[in-house]
Amino acid sequence: MEDNILNQELLANRLIEEEEEEFHHLNNPADGIKPIIKKYLGVPNHADQLDNKFFFTDGDAKVEVTVVTDEIIRVRLAPHGVFLEEFSYAVPKLEHKATVFALHEDENEFRVSTSVVNCHIRKDDFFISFSDIQNHITSADAVPMHWEENVKFGGYYVYCTKTCASQESFFGLGDKPTELNLRGKRLKNWNTDAYSFAWNQDPLYRSIPFYISVNEGIAHGIFFDNTFKAHFDFGAEDPTKTSFWADGGELQYYYIHGPHMMDVVKSYHLLTGTHPMPPLWALGYHQCRWSYYPEAKVKKIANGFRENKIPCDGIYLDIDYMDGYRCFTWNRKYFPDPKKMIKELAADGFKTVVIIDPGIRVDDNYSVFKEGKENRYFCRRCDDYFMEGHVWPGRCQFPDFTNPDVRTWWGGLFDELVQLGVAGVWNDMNEPAVFGAGTFPDDVRHQYDGFRGSHRKAHNVYGMQMVRATYEGLRKLMKNKRPFTITRAGYSGVQRYSSVWTGDNVASWEHLKLGNIQMQRLSTSGISFCGTDIGGFSGEPDGELFTRWIQMGTFSPFMRAHSAGDTKEREPWSFGAPFTAINRKFIELRYRMLPYLYSTFWEHHRYGFPILRSIVMQEQDEISNHFRQDEFTYGDKILICPVLEPGQQSRKVYLPKGKWYNFWTYEMVDGGKEVTVPTPLETIPIFVKAGSVIPEYPVMQYVGEKEIEEVKLNIYYSNYEVNSFLFEDYGETFAYEQDIYLEKKFVVSGKSTVLTVQQSMEGLYTPRYESYYFNVIGLPFAPTKILADGKDVPYSIDENKCVEFKFTKNFKQIEIVK
Ligand code: GLC
Repeated sequence: MEDNILNQELLANRLIEEEEEEFHHLNNPADGIKPIIKKYLGVPNHADQLDNKFFFTDGDAKVEVTVVTDEIIRVRLAPHGVFLEEFSYAVPKLEHKATVFALHEDENEFRVSTSVVNCHIRKDDFFISFSDIQNHITSADAVPMHWEENVKFGGYYVYCTKTCASQESFFGLGDKPTELNLRGKRLKNWNTDAYSFAWNQDPLYRSIPFYISVNEGIAHGIFFDNTFKAHFDFGAEDPTKTSFWADGGELQYYYIHGPHMMDVVKSYHLLTGTHPMPPLWALGYHQCRWSYYPEAKVKKIANGFRENKIPCDGIYLDIDYMDGYRCFTWNRKYFPDPKKMIKELAADGFKTVVIIDPGIRVDDNYSVFKEGKENRYFCRRCDDYFMEGHVWPGRCQFPDFTNPDVRTWWGGLFDELVQLGVAGVWNDMNEPAVFGAGTFPDDVRHQYDGFRGSHRKAHNVYGMQMVRATYEGLRKLMKNKRPFTITRAGYSGVQRYSSVWTGDNVASWEHLKLGNIQMQRLSTSGISFCGTDIGGFSGEPDGELFTRWIQMGTFSPFMRAHSAGDTKEREPWSFGAPFTAINRKFIELRYRMLPYLYSTFWEHHRYGFPILRSIVMQEQDEISNHFRQDEFTYGDKILICPVLEPGQQSRKVYLPKGKWYNFWTYEMVDGGKEVTVPTPLETIPIFVKAGSVIPEYPVMQYVGEKEIEEVKLNIYYSNYEVNSFLFEDYGETFAYEQDIYLEKKFVVSGKSTVLTVQQSMEGLYTPRYESYYFNVIGLPFAPTKILADGKDVPYSIDENKCVEFKFTKNFKQIEIVK
C-alpha cells in the first residue's frame, strides 16, 4: 500500500517536471514536435505467444508473427505497439491450418518454425528472415522494418527492405505492362484509368500486391496486404535490395513458401480465394463494341455470326443502351423493347451482357440517384459534402461500395435487368475513374465495412467492392444460375467475384505482346479468368493482326473482341478472305476444346491452379526460363506460343522437358529445347504433352446449341504414365457446390507393345451422352486388337495413323495391343 502511494507521488512529480519542460519548449519554435523520420525497429527484447501468434517488441514497436499454414507466415508491424483492427478485403477468413509449430530462442535469435519454414528474428537488430527446413535462407531483411510519420494524414509510411540476390527473379503483381520478369523494375499500385496505355506505363487498372521471387531454384511469395498506394522495387534503386512500402496502413505481409512457384500460387489462392465456376457459355466467344446500337444493329451482328457460321455466345451492350448514360435505364429510342430483343437473341443462342459504371447522374428525377441520395449511399468528402465528379452521364455521385448496405442496395438494382433476361454484367470505370481529376480526391471518406478510412485507403478496393456488390446481387437474383461478371479494376481477391479484362489497349503488335504477358502475369497473380480486348480497343488492326489476336485469344481464359466507337467494324468476318476462315477455324477450336478449358477451370476453382502457366512456372530451375515470356501452357497439357510479329513464317518455341506432339502434324518432339516451327497465318504453334487425354466437343455455334451425343477423347501416346482429368456438371447451376459433379481421371501408359488407358470417376453427376469417340495419336506400332473392358472392339486407322474407335463412357480400361 505504502509502496503504491510512493509510486503515485513519484509519477506525479515526474509529470510536473515534464509539463514544465514542455512549457519551456512551447516558447521555443526550434524545439517543436518533429515528425518521425525513418524510424527502424530496435532490438527485440521480448517474445510472447498467444496460440498461433508470436509477439516481439523493442520496448516501443511491436511485431506480430502469425503461423497461418505450414507454408504461410504473416508478419505485422505496429510502430507504437498497437495493431490496427484485423480486417482484409483480400483475405476474407484467415484460417489457421498449421499443425505443428513452435518458438525457439537461443543467444542470437528467436525462431518461429513450422514443419516447412522458419521465421528468424535476429536479436542484434530485429532483422527478420525466412528459411526452409534445410536452413536455406530464402528471404532476409536488408534493414529492419521501418516507418515514417505522415504528418498530413496521420499514420505512417511503412517500409520493408529485403536483400536481392544477384540472380533473383520476380513475377506476379497483376497487370503491369512490362516484361514478365520484374527484376530491375520499380512499380506502383494505384488503380488508374489508363486509356491507350503504353509499354512500361504504371500503374494500370488493378492493384495486386503479391509477387513471387525465384532464387537458386526456390520460390517464395510475398503478399503485402495493404490497400494504400503501394510501391515495389525489385533491385531497381539498388540491385542488392528488394523493397515494398505503402503510403499508409499497416506493414503487414505474408511470406508464402514454395519451393515451387506453383505451390506459392496455390497458397496465395488459399488466402484470397479462386474464381467461382463460370457458366459454361462464358468460356465461349464474346463480341463487344462501343457500342452496338440500335437494336437492329445488335441483331445484325448476331445474325452475322450465325450466317458466317462463326460460334459466339456473348453479345455486349456498351453505355449507349442507357438513357443519357444513367445506369439501370434504357434508351427507348434505340431499344424500345429490351425484353423482346434479349429473348430473341437468347433464342438464337446469344447471352446479353450489359455495362454498368459507378457514376450515378445527379438528377432528382432519376430513381437510382434519388434512392442513393435519400439513403446517404453516396461517397462524401471530409467535410460531409458529396463527392461529385464528371463521367459519361455528366455530373455524378458515386456509391460507397465499401458500405455493406450500399452493396446490398446496388445488388438489388439488377432486378429489372435480370427480369429482362440479361445474363452478365460488365463493371467499368471502377478504379474509380473521374474525367479531368483522374479519380476521387484523397479526403473522400469510406465506410470500409465499419473500419472507416479515406480514399487513400479505399481507392484500390473500390472497384473490387463494386463488382462484389454486382456479383452478390446477381447471385441472389439469378437464384441457382451462375452469374457472369467482368470488371476493369480490382484488388487481390477480386477473382472471387469476377473475370477481368486488361482495359483500353491499342491495335498494335506491341500490345499483342503485352496482352500475352499481362494474361500470364494475371494468372500468376490469382486472376486466372482474364483476357484482352481482342484486336485492340483503340486504333485499327489490319486483318493479319486481328487474326493473330484471335489465335492468341482462343487460348485466353476469357475471349472477347472489343473496340472503340471511332474505329472500323471489327467482327471476325470484317477483314474478308483469308482472315474470316482462319478466325472461324480458331473460334471453332475454342469450342472444340471447351471441355478441356472447363476442366482446367475446375482445377483452378477447386485446387487453386492457375489456368495459364508461364514457362518459368514449369521449369524454374533453369535461369534462361526466367526470361521467357512468349510461350505458356493452357492448363497443364497444352503449350501455346502465339505469333507476335507481322509476316512471321516461322518462329522458335521452347518446349519444357518431356515429349510433346505438334497439335497440327502429330509429329512427336523431345522437349527441353527450342524448336523452330512454321507459322503460316493459318496456325500458331500448339503442342500437346505426350500421355495427355484431351476431351473435345463437336463444334457448336453456341453452348447448348446441340445435345452432346459423344465426347471425343484425343489420346496422345507416351511411354511413361500420365494422368489427365475431365470435369463435368450442369454447366450453369451451383449444384457443384452441393457436390453434384463428376471428376474423371484418365491414366495413360504405353509400352512398346501395348497402350493402356484407365478411367476412374468420382461424383454424383451423370452426363447425358453415352459414348466416347477415341482418337489415339502417335501409337508407335500398328495395333492388332483393341480390348475395351476385356471386349474386342472394331477400330479404324486414318491417314495420319491415328487409331479411332468408339466405346461406352463408363469404360474402365482400354488396351491397344500390337
Ligand atoms: C472505357 C472502357 C471501354 C468502354 C468505354 C465506354 O473506356 O474501358 O471498354 O468501351 O469505357 O463504355
